[in-house]
Formats: sequence, C-alpha cells, structure tokens
Amino acid sequence: MKKSTNVFVCSECGYESAKWNGICPSCGQGNTMVEEIREPVSKKSGSKVRFSPSDVSQICVNSIDINEEVRYHTGFNELDRVFGGGIVKGSLSLLGGTPGIGKSTLLLQICKFLDKNLKILYVSGEESKRQIKMRASRLGVENENLYVMTETNLNKIAAEIEFTNPDIVIIDSVQTMNNPESSSFPGSVSQVKECTNTFLKLAKSLDITILLIGHVNKDGAIAGPKVLEHMVDAVLYFEGDAQTSYRILRAVKNRHGSTNEIGVFRMDSVGLQEVENPSMMLLAGKPQNASGICVACVMEGSRPILTEVQSLVTATSFGNPRRMATGFDYNRMALILAVLEKRAGYFFSAMDAYINVVGGLKLEEPAADLSVAIALVSALKDIAIDDRIIAFGEVGLAGEIRAVSNCELRITEAERLGFEKCIIPHYNFVTLKNPEKKYKIEIIGAKTIRQAVAEALNQ
Ligand code: TYD
Ligand code: MG
Repeated sequence: MKKSTNVFVCSECGYESAKWNGICPSCGQGNTMVEEIREPVSKKSGSKVRFSPSDVSQICVNSIDINEEVRYHTGFNELDRVFGGGIVKGSLSLLGGTPGIGKSTLLLQICKFLDKNLKILYVSGEESKRQIKMRASRLGVENENLYVMTETNLNKIAAEIEFTNPDIVIIDSVQTMNNPESSSFPGSVSQVKECTNTFLKLAKSLDITILLIGHVNKDGAIAGPKVLEHMVDAVLYFEGDAQTSYRILRAVKNRHGSTNEIGVFRMDSVGLQEVENPSMMLLAGKPQNASGICVACVMEGSRPILTEVQSLVTATSFGNPRRMATGFDYNRMALILAVLEKRAGYFFSAMDAYINVVGGLKLEEPAADLSVAIALVSALKDIAIDDRIIAFGEVGLAGEIRAVSNCELRITEAERLGFEKCIIPHYNFVTLKNPEKKYKIEIIGAKTIRQAVAEALNQ
C-alpha cells in the first residue's frame, strides 16, 4: 500500500515543494511554507475517461446572447456599483477583509433588500444560528426566503445546495469550510482551494450566485490569495480601520465590471449605511486657518473624491531629516520634495516632513501631487491656505504641472462642495471652453509648480 506523503505548500501563492524553503521560490515571500499531508490517490479513481464528440459543446460567438446576463440588486448602490451594476447570476465572488470590518454584517444586510422571491442560503462556519438570528433582528433583516445553516463540512453543504437549489448562497467564511476526506487542516491552502473549487463547480453547474467571505492574513491578503483570485469571478476587499466607522469596498478583480469603482460605507448601531457623498464625509472636521492643509481631488473610478492632505514640517533634530507619508507613496513624496527644492527654491533638507491623507484614503493618482506640494510649502512657511482653494495636477521633474484626466468632473465636484478657487494644470485649462460662463468657481491654470504654489499661498 502506498504511504501518505508530506508536501510543503506556500500559504501565499500555493507553490508546492517536497522540501521546506525559508523563502518561497515562486513568490519570494519569507516563512510562508506550511507542511501538509497528502493521502495517496487510488489508481481506480484516476482511471482513463474517454470522451465522445457529443460531450463537447461549442457555439458560434455571434449567436451568444449577452442580454441574458441577470443581475441582482443588493439595495446598496455602493455595493452594486463595485460589482459593476449588481451581482451577476451564476457568479462566484469573494469578499475579503480583516476580522471585525463588517463582512458578515454586509452580506446579511443585503438579504433584507434582495428580491423577496430569491431563495437565499446563509452558511456560517463561525457563528451559531442564535447569533445569526440576533444579528439579523438587530439589522432588521426579515426575509421568508432566507435560510440559515451552521455547517463546516463541505460535502454536506454541497449536498444541501444541490438538494434545495437556492438562488444565492453566502459562505461565511471559506477558511472555516473543510472536506473531511482531505487530510489537510481546515484553513490550509489546499483545503481553501478545494472548497473554492467545489463552490465554483456548484455555481457554474447550477447557475446560482455564491458569495464567499474570506479572511485576510496579517499582510492584508486573503489566505491562499493568488490561487483563490484565479478561480473566482470577482474579488472585493473591505478596507478601513475597525476602530473608525468608515469602510471602503474596493474591487481587485471583476470579470463583470470595472475594478476602479469603490463603495463607501459607515458602520453604525444598525449595521452598515452607504455614504453617497464621500467628499463631504472626508472634508468634515477640516481645521480652519491651519497651515499645511490643502484639499486634493482624485478620481476613484468614475467618481471624483475630494480629500484633505495634511502636512507637518519641523526642524530636524538629528543629521538625517525624517520623511513619513500615510496614504501617499513615500517615494513620490521624496520626489516632490526634491522638485520643490530644485525648481521652486523651497528648502526641506534640514526639515522633517510628514504627510497624512485624512480618512484612511490612499492617494495613488498622480493628480494628487500638486496638493501634496502645496501642503508641504504651506507647512514649511507656516502660512495657511485659504479654505476655499482646491488644487490638482501631476508634478513633473522639471517643475512643470502636467495635465490630468477628467478635469471637468473634478471642477464640478469642487464647485458643488462650495470651493471658490481651483488651481489646475495649464494644459487642462486651455481645453476648457468658456470656463467663466460655465463655472462660478474661479479657475487658474498653472504651468509650473512655482506658479501654482504662489497662487495657493496668495503671494
Ligand atoms: P462583522 O460583520 O462581524 O465583521 P466580520 O464578519 O468582517 O468579521 O462586524 C462586526 C463588527 O461590526 C463588530 O465590531 C461590531 C460592529 N457592528 C456594529 O457596529 N453595528 C452593527 O449593527 C453590527 C451588526 C456590527
Ligand atoms: Mg464574520
């Protein structure tokens, strides 16, 4: 009889090796190889299968009807938008996030708004039926068609799904599910992979929508992430601090829509509420007449979002000046500091400089450069920027301000939120037609960083 074998599997990328490696040869992550025991596969189960031509089904691409796609609306516009206009029937999606962020809450809450004719099965491997009921009544979820099951045995769940044929299945969470016939531990890479594979087959063969909840590890990735991301149709991440009430839902992968869209939520005593006006939320509590603050406008998908960039510049007490950036790329900040020094004559070499983006947002778009530059100079000179000023533009190494996309959308959003002066790249300014007639907000086109900073500081 064949004996079971030991393999080492990388918990990050699923790479398998016969021996343990400190650093995974495939993804380069350190200390991620975990041991798993594999039972031998019996020869009988691997016997050859012969296909006859009738097993293969092909169809001419012209005759595929794309209007067939059915989408379920969740009752949350923010969630529908991230899914690309509702959850697609027959799709398998993964919702990831740190513990306590609100994954179970969100998926239980959508049961309240989903079409009442849809049969929903909520499978929990983490909470008891009573706990789920208590949460559901707190959230006001009452649905005749919502069924709850507390089970972790994959085979039982699959059998139940096949037998009852629900329209939507929620699995909370994929890491707690396991196949008892498999020898590895629940939550291990091969178990998670196997469970996801089973749910994928169920979703596609029965044409039901399956939503998986996935935990993230300490680095912020879903355990066994790469392998899972390839299998599912959409991967959504719930971001934000469990301490603060704001949550951002972001699509990392979406086969049925764009991955640029974000959804903003707020957690309160009756669950998650959508925030339809994130700029207003991010700008609430902005200090008045304080130096080092400039409002930026970044595009998150198709939506412009205004947020506050804060900076603090203080004299260095050690030889090496300190730089720190939260919510903004550290290297990009160093680059902006260098441009300010070389091209505009603002010296930071004996200064510690800090950048913080309020509200936990990460500014990845180069359009935020100009606000960061203005905030830094404002902090250095200790001159407050007028509250009604907003700036956006990419900073180039020659000290030039480069054009950005969606300029008009950004200006309209700034105007809507009551800003009175908008500093934009010169090359965007010249493309605007009749800006004086179209907008009430004063628009200034800046060619160089020196000019933009002088405008903002009113010098
Ligand atoms: P939960 O959905 O259990 O998180 P996850 O499934 O991602 O681990 O969210 C739990 C947190 O949300 C918990 O800290 C309490 C908080 N919460 C509220 O503030 N209000 C509510 O109405 C609910 C249901 C939870
Ligand atoms: Mg949970």
